Amino acid sequence: MQLPLTILTALIGLASAQGAQGTGKTTRYWDCCKPSCAWPGKSTASSPVQTCDKNDNPLNDRGSTRSGCDSGGSAFMCSNQSPWAVNETVAYGWAAVNIAGSNEAAWCCSCYELTFTSGPVAGKKMVVQATNTGGIWGIITLILPCRGEGWGYLMQYGAPPNGWGERYGGVASKSACASFPEKLKAGCNWRFDWFQGADNPDVRFRQVACPAAITAKSGCVRQRDVIDQTPTGPSTVPTWTP
Ligand SMILES: *[C@@H]1O[C@H](CO)[C@@H](O)[C@H](O)[C@H]1NC(C)=O
Repeated sequence: MQLPLTILTALIGLASAQGAQGTGKTTRYWDCCKPSCAWPGKSTASSPVQTCDKNDNPLNDRGSTRSGCDSGGSAFMCSNQSPWAVNETVAYGWAAVNIAGSNEAAWCCSCYELTFTSGPVAGKKMVVQATNTGGIWGIITLILPCRGEGWGYLMQYGAPPNGWGERYGGVASKSACASFPEKLKAGCNWRFDWFQGADNPDVRFRQVACPAAITAKSGCVRQRDVIDQTPTGPSTVPTWTP
């Protein structure tokens, strides 16, 4: 018995020093569509990312409902997966991720600590859980209420035909957030308050165990893999206001 236990411990010790890290670029989005990691079987997580019906009620469907952005579908992103400020220097949220040399099985529901390295938020940190798969490099997303391909933003919130603001980039000022649906206003305001209207800042990132306050909302917790994935900290963290 002693030997296998020792070997196991050694392997875990080695593995826990790993996890993805690097640098990347961010963009921002919110298309209302069911995110990729909300489908079953994407990773070893206990269950896929929670999605919501048209009225923002959790579906608890274990990923079986077709995306509201596909014909006949009715699963959408839940509005509680909007970013929020934990304090002046840290925010929590979710992201579409793409890490070179890695894949969805590795990043779905994994968390990453981003340190912004350019723009007005340089030096601030954001912990995000990957709920979706994004474009070419590195990373990650922030909020842009309900723009994008497909019908998600039209069906779920009755947005104007072209959504709000620019198709890529969203609204230009905090005052425009007032025209958003009630449930999306907080995320829109976050973009101009904590995030200071930063425009696609660069980041340094490293994989971390998810804060429990994030997994409590997404419903997605990974099994131990390259790092110990046990969620950390309290399961609710209030929004910081200046
Ligand atoms: C902000 O919150 C993070 C996460 O809880 C914590 O580690 C950090 O110490 C806090 N910073 C300040 C300035 O309160």
